[in-house]
Amino acid sequence: MFTLAHISDIHLQLGERPRLRELLGKRITGFANIALIRGARHQDESLHRLIAALGARSFDHLAVTGDLINLALAGEYRRAAKWLAGLGSPRDISMVPGNHDVYVACPPHLGPDLWARYMLGDDGKKAFPYLRRRGSAAIIGLSSALPRAPFLATGRLGAAQLARLGALLDETGLEGLCRIVLLHHPPLPVPTPRARRLVDAPALARVLARAGAELVLHGHNHQDSLCFTPGPNGPIPVVGVPSASSTGTDGHAPAQFNLYTLTGKGIGWRIAMAAHRLDPGSGRVEHVHEKLLRTGQDASGRA
Ligand SMILES: [Fe+2]
Repeated sequence: MFTLAHISDIHLQLGERPRLRELLGKRITGFANIALIRGARHQDESLHRLIAALGARSFDHLAVTGDLINLALAGEYRRAAKWLAGLGSPRDISMVPGNHDVYVACPPHLGPDLWARYMLGDDGKKAFPYLRRRGSAAIIGLSSALPRAPFLATGRLGAAQLARLGALLDETGLEGLCRIVLLHHPPLPVPTPRARRLVDAPALARVLARAGAELVLHGHNHQDSLCFTPGPNGPIPVVGVPSASSTGTDGHAPAQFNLYTLTGKGIGWRIAMAAHRLDPGSGRVEHVHEKLLRTGQDASGRA
C-alpha cells in the first residue's frame, strides 16, 4: 500500500510590499488583482490550518502541483523555498511549477532553481518530465508553466516533453508501478476557459490513451474536480484540487487536500481518494468525501 497526499495552488501571500520598479510590466496587473480581489481569497492563515491538518495524517509522499507564489518576485521565491523546507524533505515531496511560478521570466538562480530539489528526477537531472520511483508508485512530473502575456494563463508541454512522457509511462508500466502524472494545467476533458487552457491538451490525451497511467493530478482551476480520460485499460482518473490557501469566500472552493490510497499491482491498481476541506465558518479541516477512482480490476474484470 502507498499513500499519496495532493495539494496545489499555494499562492503564499506576498509578505513585503513590492518595490515600484518590480511592478513594471505584467506584474502591475497581477498586483492590482491581488490588491483588489485575490488578496481576500488566499490567506496564509487558511494554508496554515490546512497544512496542520495534513501533518496530522500519515502518508508516504506529497504532490504539490504548482502556483506556490503569485508574481515571480525574488522575495516570493525565497519565501516559498523556506515554506517548502518547513513542509518536508525533497525526497518525500514532488512538485511541478504553475503559471504564477513563472509569471514573468526570472533568472533561474534567483527563481525556480531555489526549489529545484523538489523537482529532480531519480537520475539527479533538472529536466521535465522527471521520474521518481517511490515504493510501488512512479511519480512523473511535467512542466506546463511558461511566462505569458498579460491576462493569459495558458500552459504548454511541447512535443519533446510529451515524447519523453510516453517513454516513461511505457517503462514504468512494464515494471508494474502505479503511474501518477503531475501537472499544473488541467488535461482534457476538464472544462477550462480558453485563456487558461493547456494548449496541447489533445496531444497529452493521445499519449495517455496509448501508454496509459493510473492517475493524473492537477491544479490551476482552484476547483474540486474529477474527470476521466480514455486509457488503454479503461478510463484514467483526472483529479483537480482547490487552492490550499483558499479562504472559501466569493463562492470559491475552500482550501482542500486529497489523500490517495494505492493498493494492488500491475494494471489491477485500486485507488481510493479521501478529500479534506477547510470549513470557512469554524476554521476546522474536515473529511468531506471519499471516492473509489479505480476498482483494482482491469477492463476485462481481471483483478
Ligand atoms: Fe493558481
